[in-house]
Amino acid sequence: MSQRLRHLTSLENMPSATIERLLDRAVSMRDACAHGTRKLDLLAGRTVLNLFFEPSTRTRTSFELAARRLGADVINFDIGLSSTSKGEALFDTLHTLEAMHLDTIVVRHKISGTPDELVRHAMSGVAVINAGDGNRAHPTQGLLDMLTIREHRPDFRQLKVVICGDVKHSRVARSDVHALRALGAKEIRLCGPAGLMPEASEFPGCTIVENFDEAIEGVDAVIMLRLQKERMASTDLPDEAAYFERFGLDNRRLALAGKGCLVMHPGPLNRGIEIASEVADGPQSRILEQVGNGVFVRMAVLCEVMGR
Ligand code: NCD
Repeated sequence: MSQRLRHLTSLENMPSATIERLLDRAVSMRDACAHGTRKLDLLAGRTVLNLFFEPSTRTRTSFELAARRLGADVINFDIGLSSTSKGEALFDTLHTLEAMHLDTIVVRHKISGTPDELVRHAMSGVAVINAGDGNRAHPTQGLLDMLTIREHRPDFRQLKVVICGDVKHSRVARSDVHALRALGAKEIRLCGPAGLMPEASEFPGCTIVENFDEAIEGVDAVIMLRLQKERMASTDLPDEAAYFERFGLDNRRLALAGKGCLVMHPGPLNRGIEIASEVADGPQSRILEQVGNGVFVRMAVLCEVMGR
């Protein structure tokens, strides 16, 4: 039995047994909820704080729903209305909130490494879950992506995946690659404009393929990424029509992938820029399945870090 996680800040170096255990646990949560019990009381009396310093729709709602379904109390800390916007140091905010007896902090921040800083400063007993830090990690997204893939393609050793788009700025790509490598994926290809590609050394075990028609050939899953303009220098911004032409996913390109290739996207989608509606809403799209799995993965992670 792999060791229980006290915090979840990244999937880097996470053993496959731990990943599999969390995914199995997410499936148990889904089964339990499917049997009519929409609410479990595993975390009754516990308090979860959502501390989001960056905008979020899916991730924040999904953590909130996950915590509530487990019977926990949830506080959504509104940064815009808080003293943090008056210049209070992050750690003062942290200690103030901790004094109110929280059990878990779910944090999203534009600066990479913030969740680990919180782990170092948090009082013992308070768990930290990373909901996305800079371009570094988004571990629960990585896990929900693995769950979505595993349901359709259980043998990762046979799996060929392409991740296409703004890989350089994507924490989702980093967490997906960490998990895919741990689970033994056969081939991981990265594709996108040269200016939005990471250093190859940052993604060991992956192949960079510049031409999307070549990169998508024969794959079992394609993970599309948004152009993360908020993290780009204005000079990096590609022309959107030209971008779709070269890196957009439409039915013609999807036909080059393996049979029944899974179409994935962490959201938010930019239709007509990285993905055509015919694909996003088409029969091979797993995008809403990813969203659904996100709640169960987050329920599993919340129970894990709170020792339930
Ligand atoms: C992603 C994120 O915030 O990193 N979205 C998400 O959590 N579902 C991807 C993105 O913003 O493009």
